[in-house]
Amino acid sequence: MPSTVLVGAQWGDEGKGKITDLISSDYDYVVRYQGGNNAGHTVIHGDTKLALHLMPSGVLYDSCVPVIGNGVVVDPSVLVQEMEMLHAGGISTERLAISCDAHVIMPYHIDLDGAAEKRLGKNEIGTTKRGIGPCYQDKAERIGIRIQDLLDEHILEKKLETALASKNHILEHYGLDTYTVEQLLDWCRPYAEVIRPHVAETAQLLNQALREGKNILFEGAQGTLLDLDHGTYPFVTSSSCCAGGACTGTGVGPKAITKVIGIEKAYITRVGSGPFPTELDDEIGDLIGEVGGEYGVTTGRKRRCGWFDAVIARYAADCNSLTDVALTKLDVLSCVDTIKVCVAYEADGKTYDYFPMQHSVMYPKHVTPVYEELPGWKGEDLTGCRTFEELPENARNYVLYLENLIGVPISIIAVGPDRDQTIYRGWSSR
Ligand code: IMP
Repeated sequence: MPSTVLVGAQWGDEGKGKITDLISSDYDYVVRYQGGNNAGHTVIHGDTKLALHLMPSGVLYDSCVPVIGNGVVVDPSVLVQEMEMLHAGGISTERLAISCDAHVIMPYHIDLDGAAEKRLGKNEIGTTKRGIGPCYQDKAERIGIRIQDLLDEHILEKKLETALASKNHILEHYGLDTYTVEQLLDWCRPYAEVIRPHVAETAQLLNQALREGKNILFEGAQGTLLDLDHGTYPFVTSSSCCAGGACTGTGVGPKAITKVIGIEKAYITRVGSGPFPTELDDEIGDLIGEVGGEYGVTTGRKRRCGWFDAVIARYAADCNSLTDVALTKLDVLSCVDTIKVCVAYEADGKTYDYFPMQHSVMYPKHVTPVYEELPGWKGEDLTGCRTFEELPENARNYVLYLENLIGVPISIIAVGPDRDQTIYRGWSSR
């Protein structure tokens, strides 16, 4: 049955929120499969702007079941706060299903995230300090707390004893306050009661849905270059952001996935540290950032801006088996005279037309991008265009040029933040 993975094809913040919001109503289930409240996007409900960090966007549609899969890490305080915000906006969260196997971000994970960054000093990763890495670390160490543990205080107590035996030791080492089991049981209790009715065997739920011919959207967070395995390690997040993560993060097999849509901004941004070959450390970068409103939804940090990088785009097409691309924020490029696109890298006299993973090539600022320069459409307002033909000729040529470089059809183009500021070029969820 048709199911789609929606994945960030750059370093996150590609505008996944807008595209998820646009296409969610075509799906019966919208499922988060990795990450946690390090993600963030704004959705518009009536006249209200809502910032969602954890809740799948499908929550806005009555016909859609929002699911938090086993691969997600859940800060219960954030989840409950988000549920309350949605209720206040008249949006029901009754249909929400949360995997019993999803891991819980505990207060000590947040403390340890901050402490680890401090220890790294100028080599810091620039994490969102939401406790994401330390929570996945405990999952791999097999001392994590899972959502199902919140439902049985006896089990939770035992698991917390085990976790704290190691965590308190590290907290002390960093000179931070330690925790007692009692303190944490008290912290968990009110959240557990709100979450309890939503806890489900979500792998079984989703596979049954597929058998019944239901349509599923897997909503990726962060992006390909932030993937723990395929990104610019160690400047990555701690989860599998790529399309393959949709299988491990939900319990649905790869044959169930029929489409993979990669979201790519018409230029590129990155928050946090790490290599960024096409970064514009100049007034053009500042201009694109200002016009594009490039500030993080989660941390408010200014995003680094740069030209579109086709080396990365091809890499993302391979890593994710992209069937479609949604190109976002094309309207922002109306602020520049000409537009550069990186088609290859050069380093040590060698040309790379693929993304080099070896740090001797990538770090720090070692590769030089090879650019092609295209004429722009400066001053022309694209936000009213609704068909491809209505775009200025140079904007059409830019899209066709990128499509050719990526080798994947660009089937959606966003020309503004609103739902209707979108051009469809053959997208279908089926
Ligand atoms: P963490 O996910 O908080 O551990 O942060 C690790 C890296 O991923 C940092 O460079 C963050 O800036 C980046 N990151 C995490 N979430 C997002 C996101 O939603 N958008 C963009 N970057 C992100």
